[in-house]
Amino acid sequence: MMDIIALPAGEQSKSLDVVTQVYDRLIDRQADRQTTIFAVGGGVVGDAAGFIAATYTRGVPFIQIPTTLLADVDSSVGGKVGVNHPRAKNMIGAFYQPFGVLIDTTALQTLPDREYRSGLAEVVKYGVIMDADFFAELERHIDDLNRRDPDFLARVIARSCRLKADIVEKDEFERTGLRATLNYGHTFAHAFEALCGYGELLHGEAVAIGMICASRLAERRGLIDASVTERQVALLTALHLPLTLPTPVRFT
Ligand SMILES: NC(=O)c1ccc[n+]([C@@H]2O[C@H](COP(=O)([O-])OP(=O)(O)OC[C@H]3O[C@@H](n4cnc5c(N)ncnc54)[C@H](O)[C@@H]3O)[C@@H](O)[C@H]2O)c1
Ligand SMILES: [Zn+2]
Repeated sequence: MMDIIALPAGEQSKSLDVVTQVYDRLIDRQADRQTTIFAVGGGVVGDAAGFIAATYTRGVPFIQIPTTLLADVDSSVGGKVGVNHPRAKNMIGAFYQPFGVLIDTTALQTLPDREYRSGLAEVVKYGVIMDADFFAELERHIDDLNRRDPDFLARVIARSCRLKADIVEKDEFERTGLRATLNYGHTFAHAFEALCGYGELLHGEAVAIGMICASRLAERRGLIDASVTERQVALLTALHLPLTLPTPVRFT
């Protein structure tokens, strides 16, 4: 027997209110520990459904079926699940690994342009922080990326998942600092998202701007050569990602 529970699109669905409504539905349907939850959707559905799976009867089997590029390469891998608190994003959650992740790249063909490019920013991030060959491969395949070539995307997604999994396997619970390298560009990005109001800047767009800020900071501290920043600027620009904040923002 299968039941579909649809969540309204948008970050608002990552809330304890929505989670409670889903618990009600599960209890109505007499779901038990043999019930498997499939999260079909972007990171919002994956995070919320994963939290429900982690907590309903103290844990039921859970399978991720991501449908956005960001969910393919980032949120469905690594086992972080959770919802937002009204005063803080991702504040309530758990580490809970899915039994598996099923990725069908054809889902990406219907993804709105900005959402697709937002996911590409995280792909570029993996190249910068972990894999120079991968970064160079992305530079050589800009056209394939821009036209969402399914074969190239399958390779890009597999490589990104492998790179993230390598880090998560060594520091699953964020204890050694290694997993924090995945946050490259994110300290700035989170500030920009808060500053612009959530929704105006997509997460990946904020990450693109944040990576350039972090790279320039590293340059100023004498840690890297300017050419490292310039290659990131060139690749992100070719992928039509923003490198500056959209509207004049007052830093007060
Ligand atoms: N758990 C983690 O490790 C982790 C990592 C990164 C991000 N996240 C979370 O992921 C969330 C963002 O995820 P997202 O970027 O996937 O956004 P999202 O889930 O909001 O999806 C973006 C939009 O695309 C629509 N959509 C989804 N798949 C589609 C498809 N195939 N075709 C057309 N439209 C489609 C959705 O309905 C939504 O409107 C945030 O809440 C963030 O905190 C979690
Ligand atoms: Zn991110």
